[in-house]
Amino acid sequence: MHFLFPAILFAGAAAAGNPAEEGTLWTRDEARIVFNDLGCNGCHDIEETRIGPAFRDVAAVYEGADAVAVERLRLKIQRGGAGTWGQVPMVAYPRMSDEQARRIAIWILAQRESGASGDDRPK
Ligand code: HEC
Repeated sequence: MHFLFPAILFAGAAAAGNPAEEGTLWTRDEARIVFNDLGCNGCHDIEETRIGPAFRDVAAVYEGADAVAVERLRLKIQRGGAGTWGQVPMVAYPRMSDEQARRIAIWILAQRESGASGDDRPK
């Protein structure tokens, strides 16, 4: 499965630092609590495509939590919008803080390593 992405690099992404060194990665259980409270799980699942893409697929496409990917997903979460995965728009969460959106983005990008079936990492 291939996805084409517009080659958009957001200004300021380079200033985001290396998220892996910030110690902000949540455990799966901690993140699940946030997802349930915020309602992300109404449209997203880790392994299954629902209205929005499966987070495992998001993680596989971006191939890791580098600063550019984190910044891109942070902006998507806060601003919403369509066109990356299809025509259905993601709702915006404009009141979410930068830090919270960044932490969620980092967690989503780590889901490729969550041990879900179907990925290509060594078991
Ligand atoms: C009403 C349904 C809905 C809800 C609720 C929702 N999303 Fe989405 N989400 C979508 C859709 C649809 C897309 C695909 C958008 C696109 O194609 O650009 C998406 C895309 C995404 C992406 C991938 C962005 C990209 O550019 O690749 C991330 C990450 C994401 N959502 C995170 C979240 C988080 C975190 C929450 C909760 C705070 C959330 N979503 C709540 C529907 C939803």
